[in-house]
Parts: sequence; C-alpha cells; structure tokens
Amino acid sequence: MPAKTAFGVDVGGSGIKGAPVDLDTGELTEERFKILTPQPATPEAVVGVIAELLDHFDLDQSVPVGVSFPAPILSGVVPWMANLDQSWVGVNLAEAVRRGTGRNTTVVNDADAAGYAEVAFGVAKDHPGTVAVMTLGTGIGVALITAGKLWPNAELGHLTINGKDAEKWAAASAKERESLTWAKWARRLQRYFTEIDRLLWPDLIVVGGGISRKHDKFLPLLHLRPKIVPAALRNSAGIVGAAVLAWQDAASAQAAATPALRTTPATAATPAPPAAPPSLNA
Ligand code: BGC
Repeated sequence: MPAKTAFGVDVGGSGIKGAPVDLDTGELTEERFKILTPQPATPEAVVGVIAELLDHFDLDQSVPVGVSFPAPILSGVVPWMANLDQSWVGVNLAEAVRRGTGRNTTVVNDADAAGYAEVAFGVAKDHPGTVAVMTLGTGIGVALITAGKLWPNAELGHLTINGKDAEKWAAASAKERESLTWAKWARRLQRYFTEIDRLLWPDLIVVGGGISRKHDKFLPLLHLRPKIVPAALRNSAGIVGAAVLAWQDAASAQAAATPALRTTPATAATPAPPAAPPSLNA
C-alpha cells in the first residue's frame, strides 16, 4: 500500500462503495467494492454496510477513513435528508460511524467530496476562478469553489424551478424514471444550468456523477455562457474526495498533537507530519 493512503467510502442512493486511495496520484489502489444501499436506508443499516465494506478491505487501523454522504453535514450531524431514510435527520453521522466501525472517520457531503477531488486531482486543479462541480445521480449535488476555497453544503440541487424541486426532474434518476431521451433530458439540464448561471455566474461548470461517463450524449446539447466540462474523476470522485479530506484531517490532528509531545526543541530529526495533498483549505 502506498505511504500516503486513505480510504474513501461513498454513500449513494443506490450503492455504497469504498476503496483505498493513493493520495499522491488520486488513483484507487484496489478495485472498489460496492454493496447495494439497504432499503430502508436507516442509520443502522447504512452504518452496518460501511462496517462491512471496511472489513472487506482488512484495513490497518492507522489508515484514515473518510465518508461522503448525500446530505448537508454540520459538525458531523445530518440536519436534513432528501433521498435516504428520514430517520437520518438529527443523527450525528461521524459518531454513528465511529460507534459502528470503531474508527474515527471524516464525514463530508458527497458533492463537496467531489469538489475536493476535482481540486486535488481533476479539472478544477489550480483554477483561479469560480467553479461549480455538479453531480448528477439520484439527486443533484453542488460544490462551489472559488479560488480554491469551498463553500460547503450548497444545496442548490433543490432550487425551485417552475414550482418544483429541480433535482426531481433534472437529476439522472429523473431521466431513468421517466425514460427520457438524451435530448429531452438535456432540455431540462439546459433550464437548470441556465438558472445556476443566472444566480452564481461561475467561470466553469464541472459535471460529475455516474452518468458523466456518457457526457458526449448530453454536454454537446447544452448551450451555456460558462465553459462546461465532464468531471475528471467521474464515479470515483466521492471516494477520492472523502479520502483526501480524511488524510488532511489526520495530518492536521497529527500536526496539532506534535508540539505537545515534544520535550526538546524540534530538530531535523523530528518526524514530520504527513504532507497533505493539495488542499482546498490552504
Ligand atoms: C442532497 C445533497 C447531495 C445531492 C447529491 C441531494 O438530494 O440534498 O446533499 O449532495 O443530493 O447526492
């Protein structure tokens, strides 16, 4: 396993996936493992699957673990839930995962995880301007990044357009549910992204989620002011972003702990904390 490895878990509406990630390259170091999302997707059931995933990989206790999750997350707590079981509302996800797996984990909104991944290894790397990373899946996730900084929990998949929650008619799940043609679905995306542009004026829109693998079927049908490109990390963005963040958290925890442990002034021989991968919070 490469020296800079963290494990990312991506909780989605249809599957829960995980894999170890090499933080120098952003590559998965083993094939990702996927378990179908239990129904109903209650906290107990989902945490049980996360524990099963971790067991599958037989991870060393020192490997930092990050979980990307399809809801806003405030200090570890899920304040509101769109697409998993409503019993998540008010649950401390970080605490539930710690109890269920015996590990401290970093938890993050799934679109924000995709944003972190695209900044660290993808198309938003070193972008000086304003980037909206949008994930199209069961719902619509949005990560807003400006000059490398992320505004967390931007729930703009739930903009009300024509009196309706946008993700209900423009997410990839709506295409599937209503058997929309690419052209019909693209008309809805055109309406949605135009509204995003009117409100946010991003320099770049990055489209992720599993369906972005087929970007050539719908991105050419969109006519927008900002540049719009497929995500570089596609379906692994949640895993990679959660791993990036977990590594950063572990590095800062170690850096914070190091001075307190010193009994003599730091010398060149003092072990350095792990260097964090490119950071959104630098
Ligand atoms: C949730 C977001 C999430 C998005 C993508 C939305 O329904 O409210 O938090 O990022 O789906 O999963």
